[in-house]
Amino acid sequence: MQDKIFETVDAYIDGLFASEDMILETIRDRARDAGLPEIEVSAGQGKFLYLMAKLTGATRMLEVGTLGGYSTVWMARALPAGGQMTTLELDRAHAAFARETFRLAGLDDVCRVIEGAALESLQALQGPFDLAFLDANKDQYPDYLEEAARLLAPGGLLLADNVIRKGAVIEPPVDDVMARGAAEFNRRLSSHPQFESIVLQQVGRKGHDGLAIARKRA
Ligand code: SAH
Ligand code: DHB
Ligand code: MG
Repeated sequence: MQDKIFETVDAYIDGLFASEDMILETIRDRARDAGLPEIEVSAGQGKFLYLMAKLTGATRMLEVGTLGGYSTVWMARALPAGGQMTTLELDRAHAAFARETFRLAGLDDVCRVIEGAALESLQALQGPFDLAFLDANKDQYPDYLEEAARLLAPGGLLLADNVIRKGAVIEPPVDDVMARGAAEFNRRLSSHPQFESIVLQQVGRKGHDGLAIARKRA
């Protein structure tokens, strides 16, 4: 396998383009110490989300799957003054950890965590949002897609992490609910009347996966 060179190049890219400041390093260290799963986006992926947010000029952002707030901070740092980030998290301990993250990052006025099952939270939300990032349980991605279609403003940007699952989405095993959810998400997104979209295949320190990028039609 080529995993080693992909990881090494990933580290090279992050070293040049996505070095973490003390706050991002602290979030990562605290998360590891607290025993949170180490599945947050890489620094480079965080920088990518940040740039997407800047490029679109998003002022109202939505995230599904907060964990410790690492990706949230990358995106929230792209917000202009007065911008808002809403992030959804099922796990009470993750939500509490993330609130502390936002305090440490000086973003507690900007980032709001809604605790609970994301689908219910989404159904209770009013848009519009300029950007939505899906990164929670993949089995419900198809439902999250429909809610994102409702909540995004015309021209809004939808991003979804982990839609390739080491290629498992091509022929998802019956017992792999995450790959099945991601595959169904990809199928629906690719023919969704409200979106123009593509998936970028990714390799690196998080292994082999992919990121969906979609624009809601104006
Ligand atoms: N975006 C984060 C990583 C998110 S990991 C980052 O890159 O830093 C996925 C998160 O989704 C976990 O914290 C998990 O608890 C949460 N999650 C799982 N199922 C969920 C659900 N049904 N609703 C909301 N959050 C959920
Ligand atoms: C998993 C979840 C993620 O969001 C991710 O980026 C990588 C792995 C997981 O649940 O295994
Ligand atoms: Mg992810």
